[in-house]
Parts: sequence; structure tokens; C-alpha cells
Amino acid sequence: MKQDIKDVLVSEETLAKRVAELGREISEDYTGEEVTVIGILKGSNIFLADLVRQITIPAYMDFMVVSSYGNSAQTSGVVRILKDLEEDIEGKNIIIVEDIIDTGLTLAYLKQNLLSRKPKSLKICTLLDKPARREIEIPIDYKGFEVPDEFIVGYGIDYAEKYRNLPFVGTLKKEIYE
Ligand code: IMP
Ligand code: MG
Repeated sequence: MKQDIKDVLVSEETLAKRVAELGREISEDYTGEEVTVIGILKGSNIFLADLVRQITIPAYMDFMVVSSYGNSAQTSGVVRILKDLEEDIEGKNIIIVEDIIDTGLTLAYLKQNLLSRKPKSLKICTLLDKPARREIEIPIDYKGFEVPDEFIVGYGIDYAEKYRNLPFVGTLKKEIYE
């Protein structure tokens, strides 16, 4: 797998440090309260597992699986919910946890969808932000790292389901995906 990686963008150590900071920040922001983190599968799985263990207030977990219509290279903005939440989120503090925000279309849809269920609050946490390709403005409350406009894999993030188990975040060599 490693021979397919062009550059390591975020090392395992740097990931751990930043995830700990985010966990601390969330714990402080919600002192005396509880949060429900909603992981968007599958990409956010590893980030979320590390993040919740750095949160010191009660943190509940729920998951969604979504897929955008159309071909995979281009996000259409119309999102199909393949697996919905198991719990009602009305009146709860919700944090959506994403792996990477690219165009922003997936999250814009999800945010609107979840807001209609009347949570007490709704925030967005993403490990990675790729601002170069943003098509819709989306305020990010908790952000791990900004990444350049390249194909990113590792720490949960895939190319054709591969590379999710790399412990670091890196860029994929062009010849692999072209
Ligand atoms: P958006 O709607 O364009 O923001 O799509 C975000 C989703 O696209 C992420 O949750 C990822 O699943 C996927 N994605 C965007 N950029 C990359 C990348 O560089 N590598 C792997 N998946 C990506
Ligand atoms: Mg995703």
C-alpha cells in the first residue's frame, strides 16, 4: 500500500495530537452537558473512534451511511440515506463527524436534514478540509487539518475502499486513480 502514496501529509503522531486537542475543545465547549456524535460512515470511523476517547463528557454515538447520486467522481449534492440514525435527536446536542469536506454538498444536505429533526444544537466536526473545491459555504466548528486539492487516503479515508487502514493521511499517486 505504501508504495502507492505520494506524500504523507499528516503523520500518525500529528493526528493523535490534533485529535486530542479537538476532544479537549469539545469537552470544554459542552461542559455540564452531553453530546451525540454522528459518524458518517465509512470514512469517519477511525477518526470518530479516536476522538470520542478524548472527550471527557458523556458522548453518545450514532451513525449514518450516505451516498450521493450520480457518478462517484462528481458529488451531485443529492444525498441518498442508506442507513439512518437509530435514535431520535430532538433536543440533543449533535456533532456531525466527517472525514473530509470537499465540495461541501454532502454536508449541506445532511445538516439541513438533521436540523429538521429539531436538535438542541448542531455542530460540524471534520478531520480534513479541502477548501479549494468548496461549492457551498459550510461553517466548520471543529477542524483537524486543511489539505490541498489532491486525492487523499488513509486514517479511514479510501480510494475504491482501499487504504482506509493506513495509520497516517497521505496523497495517492496519480497513476493509481487515473
Ligand atoms: P463533498 O460532498 O464533495 O464535500 O464530499 C465529501 C465526501 O467525498 C467525503 O466524505 C469523502 O467520502 C469523499 N471525498 C472527498 N474528497 C476525497 C479524497 O480526497 N479522498 C477520498 N474521499 C474523498
Ligand atoms: Mg465520506
